[in-house]
Amino acid sequence: MKGIPRLALGFLAAFGFLGGNSHAQNPGGKDSCLECHSRLSGALKRAVSDWRGSTHFEQKIGCVDCHGGDKESDRYPKSPGTGYVGIPRMHDVPYFCGKCHGEIKEKHLGSPHGSHGLPNCISCHGHHGISKPEPEKIITEKNCTKCHDFKAPQKALKALEKANTLQKRMESKLEDLEHLPVAKAAFLAKRKELHLDQAGVIATFHSFQIGKIQEIGTNADQLLKTFTKLEERENLRRVQKAREVPFILSLMGFLVLGTFFGFLVFHKGPPIGTT
Ligand code: HEC
Ligand code: HEC
Ligand code: HEC
Ligand code: HEC
Ligand code: HEC
Repeated sequence: MKGIPRLALGFLAAFGFLGGNSHAQNPGGKDSCLECHSRLSGALKRAVSDWRGSTHFEQKIGCVDCHGGDKESDRYPKSPGTGYVGIPRMHDVPYFCGKCHGEIKEKHLGSPHGSHGLPNCISCHGHHGISKPEPEKIITEKNCTKCHDFKAPQKALKALEKANTLQKRMESKLEDLEHLPVAKAAFLAKRKELHLDQAGVIATFHSFQIGKIQEIGTNADQLLKTFTKLEERENLRRVQKAREVPFILSLMGFLVLGTFFGFLVFHKGPPIGTT
């Protein structure tokens, strides 16, 4: 859509002629952006269908949460004063997304890509259809060799995969530690301190500094080893304690029985028939 037809549409839109009267029921209340854009065509409509398949849709992050504007208004959803920002300029994208993904924004801006300006959040994640990212689909030769060779991306991918594997092992270690609440709390605290929780790992990854991504693996390995040892020691102590209990019980039983028989032997009257 270019030139006059685009202008004409904009004109119609501005005066509320397009889908202005439809009041499709939306769980979040009225949403004029959805109502109107569902009736348009091409990219203007695809925005809605792609968004419906996204994690943002599931999380109830709507058009206005990203683009601003007034979703209550059919006629002037984009007037000055509604906070409408429309399409961000490329170098504003990290701030546009970073309203909600602040820690990732900071790491991205500090990365070699952040200072270069590209690739940015939408080069790697897309914009309307964002769902759970699959690293091996984003970090490909096709996407990553426009500006440099594939060596660094490959290293980053490998380090990330290791970090993700260890992330899963840390989750299962937490389950193992369920019966040792003190150790579990210590594990959680240490994991947070080392930025090895989910949010910390994701943020560090967006620094795109290979050394730092590899460090996640090294630190997680170390943490797991320390707590596996601690857990084994703690379990051993428990087993020993558990063995001590039956021992003490049987000792007590033995004493009780001993006393009982002693009582029988020494306190019984002389057997019948003897003098
Ligand atoms: C009455 C119809 C209508 C409503 C309501 C509407 N839009 Fe649009 N929108 C359009 C049309 C038509 C275009 C393309 C023409 C143009 O450039 O204005 C467009 C373009 C856009 C664009 C592309 C950038 C731009 O400004 O051209 C974005 C982003 C957008 N709309 C978001 C929204 C959001 C967010 C809302 C709700 C606050 C909304 N729209 C409400 C009709 C509408
Ligand atoms: C997660 C944030 C986010 C949400 C939610 C979102 N958008 Fe967008 N939208 C963007 C970004 C970023 C761009 C610019 C993409 C680019 O420059 O390549 C964009 C571009 C657009 C465009 C221009 C066409 C295109 O696809 O590039 C339209 C129209 C649009 N959005 C409408 C909507 C409507 C309508 C909704 C609600 C159904 C919506 N957007 C929800 C981030 C979002
Ligand atoms: C060079 C490519 C690239 C850039 C640039 C990038 N990301 Fe990512 N992002 C990824 C990859 C790959 C993952 C998957 C990491 C994983 O699996 O652990 C990811 C993961 C994420 C996640 C977490 C997903 C989850 O599973 O919880 C969020 C949120 C995110 N990125 C947002 C952003 C935002 C916001 C920006 C811009 C400030 C950005 N990303 C820039 C590649 C990128
Ligand atoms: C209004 C807040 C908001 C804005 C703006 C926003 N997001 Fe999100 N985003 C969320 C929420 C909430 C989630 C779900 C919880 C999470 O993973 O953090 C999410 C999830 C994600 C995920 C993970 C998806 C998954 O299934 O694991 C990625 C990737 C992502 N956003 C990228 C972006 C990008 C790129 C932009 C900018 C175009 C953006 N977000 C703008 C709130 C936002
Ligand atoms: C638009 C250009 C551009 C694209 C596309 C691009 N990069 Fe980069 N990347 C750079 C620049 C510039 C640097 C810093 C200078 C250098 O190392 O060449 C860099 C550096 C890196 C580094 C750090 C290298 C180091 O030695 O620490 C990694 C890792 C990296 N990029 C990964 C990726 C991945 C993964 C992709 C694909 C998702 C990608 N890049 C796509 C421009 C780009």
